[in-house]
Amino acid sequence: MPVTASPDVLEKLVSLCKRRGFIFQSSEIYGGTGSVWDYGPLGVELKKNLKDRWWHAMVRARDDIEGLDAAILMHPRVWEASGHVATFTDPLVDCRNCKKRFRADDPKIKGTPGTPDAQCPACGMKGTLSEPRLFNLMFKTYMGPVEDSASIVYLRPETAQGIYVNFLNVQQSTRQKVPFGIAQIGKAFRNEITPGNFIFRTREFEQMEMQFFVEPGTDMHWFEYWKEQRLNWHKSLGLAAERLEFHQHSKEELAHYARAAFDIQFDFGGTLGFQEIEGVHNRGDFDLSRHQEYSGKKLEYFDQPNNKRFLPFVVETSVGADRTTLAVLVNAFREESVEGEDEGRTVLGIHPSLAPIKAGVFPLVKKDGMPEFAEKLTAELRQRFPVFYDESGAIGRRYRRQDEVGTPYCITVDGQTMEDGTVTIRDRDTLQQERVAADHVARIIQARILT
Ligand code: GAP
Repeated sequence: MPVTASPDVLEKLVSLCKRRGFIFQSSEIYGGTGSVWDYGPLGVELKKNLKDRWWHAMVRARDDIEGLDAAILMHPRVWEASGHVATFTDPLVDCRNCKKRFRADDPKIKGTPGTPDAQCPACGMKGTLSEPRLFNLMFKTYMGPVEDSASIVYLRPETAQGIYVNFLNVQQSTRQKVPFGIAQIGKAFRNEITPGNFIFRTREFEQMEMQFFVEPGTDMHWFEYWKEQRLNWHKSLGLAAERLEFHQHSKEELAHYARAAFDIQFDFGGTLGFQEIEGVHNRGDFDLSRHQEYSGKKLEYFDQPNNKRFLPFVVETSVGADRTTLAVLVNAFREESVEGEDEGRTVLGIHPSLAPIKAGVFPLVKKDGMPEFAEKLTAELRQRFPVFYDESGAIGRRYRRQDEVGTPYCITVDGQTMEDGTVTIRDRDTLQQERVAADHVARIIQARILT
């Protein structure tokens, strides 16, 4: 089955995602909101499955990581302590003519912004670009009825700070001993100057972050450990090994808090190429020491057996749920020609554990008791996993509709079912069909979607 390599996968995915109910532009009927997206019925299942896999691997399957769900709105001093008020900025230039804004390092800008020869990449005017000024990426809002500077709060630009300020609450309530971690999944907001590429860079997104608290001196050991764990997790989602690589941050790239950092990058193909989907950071004691300083509260850990107190170092793993969803979609998308058929097929080869619908159930024809049998089977399977019942159109077309949304298995009720109670299970990727007793279908599929 030859695969047609497609240079414009992202464009095709945007269209497929809208048509089949994965992802819609936010407030579309009003013309859309800049780089904000809504997840439709299939998209919400896909992203939820991804988050569940992360939660399982990071929290439920381990005894040294606890879960947390901290609030989005935090005390404004948090963001002074974290360094975000002072340094979470991008250099921005404005065009006085067309009023558009660009990052100062936008490669489309010709010349040096602020000088007469600089040319606006949008309207083409020369000498209209301002000098770069720093623009803070945090969204601001007001808490309470008075809109003054005393009531400013920020929408969090990362979930990590909610973990640091709860470090001792979690440690003391769970009696965890260092080394241990705290994990959470939640929304983050950044007023990005140049968002884009669908759900790759948006202004509202979800992060899955884990902060691992360790004794100073053991931090590089744990850093290496988490790099490997996290790369393996991405592979376990079915992301192709050759599309994944590490990128080490140079001294210039390191964030203000980081002693060492590696990105896990995924090859999105086309003009995007290899891009970060996750960061693994050695943050030292930057965060805990800053919160200790700004809050005036001690955040030290007491190591009872050795009778010593210390401020733990932190190894962070931070992955975007939306960006990884996009990686899963790009990795899965393929257009194939099928032997003996004129029309090809579009397939989302999503890992069965992530697929929004696990099985399609089809009566071969709308008579002879087949629809009734298929509906009963659908109702039974639905108690265990998401299924889709479809009796409309030719059977080939029904298979194609499920291939396009990544459904790994299709079950067909046919003439033989009515004689001996067996059905066929068709595999999305191999196109092989096997005949099994209808009573066994739930157990067979359940076992396959868990692996
Ligand atoms: N706490 C550390 C932190 O936030 P980051 O590298 O800025 O580190 C981590 O972000 C991950 O969050 C990124 O690897 C990416 O997957 C996701 N992310 C960051 N900004 C994003 C945006 N504007 N849109 C979508 N995902 C984003």
